[in-house]
Amino acid sequence: MGSYQETFRRSIDDPEGFWGEAAQGLSWYQAPTQVLDRSNPPFYRWFPDGVLNTCYNAVDRHVEGGRGDQVAIIHDSAVTSSQRKITYAELLEQVSRFAGVLAGLGVIKGDRVVIYMPMIPETLVAMLACARIGAVHSVVFGGFAPHELAIRIDDARPRVVISASCGIEGQRVIEYKPFLDAAIAEAENKPERCVIFQRPQATAALGGRDLDWGEVMTAASPADCIPVQATDPLYILYTSGTTGKPKGVVRDNGGHAVALHWTMTNVYDVAPGDVYWAASDVGWVVGHSYIVYAPLLAGCTSVLYEGKPVGTPDPGAFWRVVSEHGVRTLFTAPTAFRAIKREDPKGEYLARYDVSCLRYLFLAGERTDPDTYHWAADLLQIPVIDHWWQTETGWPIAANCMGVEQLPVKPGSPTKAVPGWNVQVLSAGGEPAPAGVEGPIVVKLPLPPGALTTLYGDDDWFVASYMSRYEGYYLTGDGGHIDADDYVFVMGRTDDVINVAGHRLSTGEIEEVIATHPDVAECAVIGVHDTLKGQVPRGFVVLKAGAQRDPDEVSSELVQLVRDQIGAVASVKDVAVVGALPKTRSGKILRKTMRSIADGTPEPVPSTIDDVGVLDRLTPVLLRSL
Ligand code: COA
Ligand code: AMP
Repeated sequence: MGSYQETFRRSIDDPEGFWGEAAQGLSWYQAPTQVLDRSNPPFYRWFPDGVLNTCYNAVDRHVEGGRGDQVAIIHDSAVTSSQRKITYAELLEQVSRFAGVLAGLGVIKGDRVVIYMPMIPETLVAMLACARIGAVHSVVFGGFAPHELAIRIDDARPRVVISASCGIEGQRVIEYKPFLDAAIAEAENKPERCVIFQRPQATAALGGRDLDWGEVMTAASPADCIPVQATDPLYILYTSGTTGKPKGVVRDNGGHAVALHWTMTNVYDVAPGDVYWAASDVGWVVGHSYIVYAPLLAGCTSVLYEGKPVGTPDPGAFWRVVSEHGVRTLFTAPTAFRAIKREDPKGEYLARYDVSCLRYLFLAGERTDPDTYHWAADLLQIPVIDHWWQTETGWPIAANCMGVEQLPVKPGSPTKAVPGWNVQVLSAGGEPAPAGVEGPIVVKLPLPPGALTTLYGDDDWFVASYMSRYEGYYLTGDGGHIDADDYVFVMGRTDDVINVAGHRLSTGEIEEVIATHPDVAECAVIGVHDTLKGQVPRGFVVLKAGAQRDPDEVSSELVQLVRDQIGAVASVKDVAVVGALPKTRSGKILRKTMRSIADGTPEPVPSTIDDVGVLDRLTPVLLRSL
């Protein structure tokens, strides 16, 4: 057996032995005597009697171990043309002080803290400070509109919200405070306090419940780490499901730290001191896991990049960052590489920089299409690793594990199941599908440490969403197949979730927003193929009888409505007003059929269709989206 096969087998046959050993890589106040509590499936609990602190493992222990002077975070902000380097010792100072601020505001273990921040080091400081005192953070992506923030505030019921005066998107300064105020006005559960970090690009006017970050930091005394149970929650991260209500994925402390620490050596092949760059956003799971927690748990230097992969002033922005900071491992989304390829197809900007430090390129967020794979691999001449994961899993489910054994690449596949993940494809009847046959992709329980433990405040929804479709399995929501060599092929979602430029969105949620327009009778939103972003949402609406409206005008109102309610990140640029939507005789809109036509791969029209004429009339409109 090769070392991948051996490691994988051991992780599945003896998860207790495997993860018990991995847990020894961390510092515990009380080392776990039990590795896995299987007494209440599907609620498996890792390291139930272990006691630790995630912040201690990510920060303090490196300082105590002699890495105090090593840079922990490099903030490289292309949008402000500035850089800041923070050592582990400085990080410890700031995190303990901000933990003191939170404690001074009455935040105690188990309290929730919402963080609505741009890509600045203070965001990481705030997250780690929560972990330090056992508070549960919930980071909300800065590109979400006030309504989305309000939904999350209402669900998480935070005692405190932490925000900044602005984010910067290209040349635009986006003021956060008006968004935050609007969200709190809409939310029923108001936070007691807001702490606002003032950036020089915009100064926020502070009101009644607001505090200035700089002032409270100066006044605070540092707070120490609080021991927490391994099973205590570290964070809630909301993600799109099939409806307007986002799912609050809950991650624990112990399992999360053990799993992420293990991946740094075994999946990413990095060592303490290496420079690691996940070019994502802290608001997404990749940012949580691989900008913040994993690199710091492993004692690496993490690059926090604020900017786009290409564009002004430098189309070679990514290569500049790699060469200036000596990045060894780069992790981003295929869409970022498609953007680079579009600007610099021959790699002329790449040639201006010395990127010989770069050992690996990891891609995730959507399937790496073979074209992008070949382009990147030929250009960089290093391993290009597609790996598959989800907000729910927190770390890769399938990958080519560089620290275990480098396997041959099959373009279009994220290679094989990562140790810990017993990935299977099922047939319609629920039995394992034969090699090469497509079906829903599932993971046999128990899930490894670090995967979601529940949905916040809603165990029943957790079970209904993921655990009840096939008993004993976690339903990933993705479909695909596994070939005869055990390579996994993830072909796309089987539900209403779409991936737009590496951002996860729900078409159902966009539909709910569109349906609130007074002239809309019914609507359908589908994800259509896009050469840059992978997918973009496209809306189709039928107006109410008697609505005498100019279709272009309604269309722009709907585009604006989605932007106002969900955020620019929803990327809805086009809503077509049509006469009717294709439906089954029982009234179900045939979204899958519409999607297949729009993507140029039409599937047979279901025999349950109510009126084929409707589909015939809609087809030219759908094809315009190609
Ligand atoms: N705050 C405010 N607005 C934001 C935002 C933020 N944090 N992030 C994105 N937006 C806005 C953008 O400015 C844009 O607005 P516009 O419609 O007015 O131009 C809109 O949301 C859509 O953003 P995006 O989908 O990111 O498109 P883009 O054209 O700005 O950039 C890419 C395209 C491919 C370069 C960019 O999406 C990218 O780098 N993606 C990689 C994402 C990633 O790493 N995902 C994590 C998985 S690893
Ligand atoms: P998110 O929760 O935002 O990380 O999105 C998770 C979804 O992105 C998965 O369910 C997949 O549909 C898709 N995805 C992520 N990485 C990959 C990949 N490497 N290959 C195929 N799909 C992917």
